[in-house]
Amino acid sequence: MAQLAVENVTLTFGGVAALSGVSLAVERGELVSIIGPNGAGKTSLLNVISGFYHPKQGRILFEGEEITHLSPHAITQRGIARAFQNIELFSGLTVLENLMLARHTHLRYGLLQAGLFYGRALAEEVRNRRLVEEVIDFMELEPYRKALVGNLPYGVRKRVEVARALALSPKLLLLDEPMAGMTLEEKEDMVRFILEIRARGTTVILIEHDLGVVMDISDRVYVLDFGQVIAEGRPEEVAKNPRVQEAYMGVEA
Ligand SMILES: Nc1ncnc2c1ncn2[C@@H]1O[C@H](COP(=O)(O)OP(=O)(O)O)[C@@H](O)[C@H]1O
Ligand SMILES: [Mg+2]
Repeated sequence: MAQLAVENVTLTFGGVAALSGVSLAVERGELVSIIGPNGAGKTSLLNVISGFYHPKQGRILFEGEEITHLSPHAITQRGIARAFQNIELFSGLTVLENLMLARHTHLRYGLLQAGLFYGRALAEEVRNRRLVEEVIDFMELEPYRKALVGNLPYGVRKRVEVARALALSPKLLLLDEPMAGMTLEEKEDMVRFILEIRARGTTVILIEHDLGVVMDISDRVYVLDFGQVIAEGRPEEVAKNPRVQEAYMGVEA
């Protein structure tokens, strides 16, 4: 059974189909990339997987259970986290605070309503802190942990955005152009982080424009064009596909 199954999903905006009949299956531990020209529907696909939009047709299963109509919050709690294309961090808070806040907002759910004892809440807080410190260490953000996010260079903020998603301890991590606008060196670092995340057993779905990177690190690639999957397969197969070459003409030199 696939860890994530998107089945025949259609999403429309006022009559315009951002996604039409999209199906995709991702196995646990895979690194799957989604590529396609601007406006192809890549971000929309992540939006329906993470519950920001609900499809008009089709369904989405995660670990065998349907999540199609769950809220983003409920989907995060099931183990799907997302780093946004447009960085969604609190610029007036530090790196550490942003990561702690992410855990609180998304995971510490109904603690008081559940009637838990203070000691239990405190123990959970200690655990949250330890997990967040691990992520900071893993993403090599130690020098910035007390820095306000708004004061950080763009490339570091992109890294914090990925760290924020990782702080939710996801089973499936969705990355929407995590390397966009980065320098070559920053990209190389991000590639290394993504490979290490996957090596630790986390499934990764990556949207990325740099085809060199995609072909290099992906187990499989899906190609979207005009809201439809036009090709799927191992990187070398996809690269040879005439429909892919056609869709990319004029987009990638
Ligand atoms: N919230 C929205 N409202 C209206 N149209 C949207 C919205 N989100 C996406 N679209 C449209 O859906 C299509 C796919 O967009 P998107 O998923 O952002 O593509 P990509 O990420 O591949 O560049 C585009 O035509 C875009 O204009
Ligand atoms: Mg996009």
